[in-house]
Amino acid sequence: MNDQLSKLFEFVEENKERYIDELTEFLKIPSVSADSSYRKETRKAGEWLENKLKELNVDTRMYETPGHPIVFGSLEQNPNLRTLLIYGHYDVQPPDPLDEWKSPPFSPVIEDGFVYARGASDDKGQLFAYIKALEACVKNGVEIPINLKFLFEGEEEIGSPNLQRFLQENLDILKANAVSISDGHQFAPGIPAITYGLRGLAYFELEVTGPKSDLHSGGFGGLVMNPIHALTIILNRLKDENDKILIDEFYADVLEPDEEEKKLIAELPFDEAGLKELLGTDVLFGEKGYTPLERKTIRPTLDVNGIWGGYQGEGAKTVIPAKAGAKISMRLVPNQTRERINKLFLEYINKVTPPGVKVYVKTLHGANPVLIDRKLPAMKAAVKALEMGFGKKPVFIREGGSIPVVNMFAEICSIKPILLMGFGRPDDNIHGPNERFDLDDFIKGIKTAISLFFCL
Ligand code: BES
Ligand code: MN
Ligand code: MN
Repeated sequence: MNDQLSKLFEFVEENKERYIDELTEFLKIPSVSADSSYRKETRKAGEWLENKLKELNVDTRMYETPGHPIVFGSLEQNPNLRTLLIYGHYDVQPPDPLDEWKSPPFSPVIEDGFVYARGASDDKGQLFAYIKALEACVKNGVEIPINLKFLFEGEEEIGSPNLQRFLQENLDILKANAVSISDGHQFAPGIPAITYGLRGLAYFELEVTGPKSDLHSGGFGGLVMNPIHALTIILNRLKDENDKILIDEFYADVLEPDEEEKKLIAELPFDEAGLKELLGTDVLFGEKGYTPLERKTIRPTLDVNGIWGGYQGEGAKTVIPAKAGAKISMRLVPNQTRERINKLFLEYINKVTPPGVKVYVKTLHGANPVLIDRKLPAMKAAVKALEMGFGKKPVFIREGGSIPVVNMFAEICSIKPILLMGFGRPDDNIHGPNERFDLDDFIKGIKTAISLFFCL
C-alpha cells in the first residue's frame, strides 16, 4: 500500500468516533418514504446529505420530484479524468413492528460494536462511508485522481417511482465511467463480495369480490362462491408442491447460467447450517432441482406477502365475506421483464379465477433484474478496493434483492460498469426490527471507498 493511502487509513482510524457520532445524527432522522406523515423528515435526511456534500466543496443541489427529492452532487476536478458516480438511498423502510425493537428505531444505540437503528445498514451507514472517504481526502489535502458524482435518492424503498424520469431528463450531468453502489451485504461476515447480479421485482395486489355485501352463512351458504375460497383456489394454482411457478410461460425468458457460473456458485463457501440457524428453521424449502444458493439468486420466485378477508375478531361470526385480498410478489431474474410478467400474470389470474367472483389486480412497484459483466476492467478495481478495505479477497455473487436504479443505470444511462459492493452483513436485520450495522464494517467500508477512488 502506498504512503498516501496509509496516511488516509490512519486518519480514518483516528476519526472513527466522530464518524460514528455523525452517522448517529443521520440515523435519528426518520426518513420513512412509504409513510406520508414522515414526508418532511424524509426531506430533512436529503438536506442533511446535501449539507455534508457542500461542506466538502461538492457542487450540490436538490432536484424536486413529485415525491421525495433527489440529491445530486458533482466534484469535477478535470474533465479529462475518469468519473465515478456514487449512488445511495437516504430513505428507510417503515420501522414496524415497533414493540419488537429493543431500543426505539430512530434513537440509535451502540452495543457490542454495532449501531442499532432503522436504516443503519440499509442504506444510510453504507452510503455515508463514501462521504467520509471523500472527507478524509479533502482534510488531508490529498488529490483524488478521478471526478466524483453523487446521486442520493429518497424513494428506493418505494420502488424509485420518480427516478427513471430524472435519469432520462438529466443524462448529461450523470455521465460517468463507472457507478459504485453499496446497498447490500458481504457474502458472510468477513467475506466481502462483489455483487454482479440482482433479481427484479413484480408486486401485485389482488382483490376478489363476490356477493355485494357480507352474508349470513346459514341463510346464504350454498348459494354463492365465497371470495376467500376463490382466493385460495387462485393462490393454490400459482405454484406446485415442488415450488415450481405455474403461470404459463413464466420461465420462458429465464437465463440459465453457463458452466463457469454454475461452478462459481457451487464453490462459494455457503454455510447451510448457519443459514438455518439464522432463519430458525430445520428445513430449507424451494424449487426442486436447484441448490439453496441458486434458488435465492439465479431462480425467480413467487411469494404471497399478505392475505386478508372475513371475520378476524374474537369468537365466531357466521359470515360469508363480500371480498378477500392478497399481496403477491415475484422476484425476477434476467431476462425476465416486469412488463412481460405483468401481462402473463394477468392472463393467468383470469384463467384460474373460479366462476362467481371478480378479481381486480393492481400492479404495485417493482424493478427489472440485472446482470453485470463480471469481466469488465472496473471489476478489478473493485476487487482491489475491497481487498484493501476488508483485508480479504472478495467473492463474486448474485443477490436475491432488488435495487431499481441498477437496471436503469444500465438501460437508460448506458453505464456498464456498475460496482455493487455491500458493506453490510446478511444478519443486519434490514427491513426487520433491530436493524444494525457493524461499526467495523462501516470503517472498512470507508477504507474500501477511499481505495476505489485510487484504483479505478
Ligand atoms: N438494499 C436493498 C436491496 C438488497 C438487499 C440488495 C439485500 C442486496 C442484498 C433495497 O433497499 C431493497 O430493499 N429493495 C427492495 C426493492 C424495492 C423496489 C422496494 C427489495 O429488494 O425488496
Ligand atoms: Mn437498500
Ligand atoms: Mn431496503
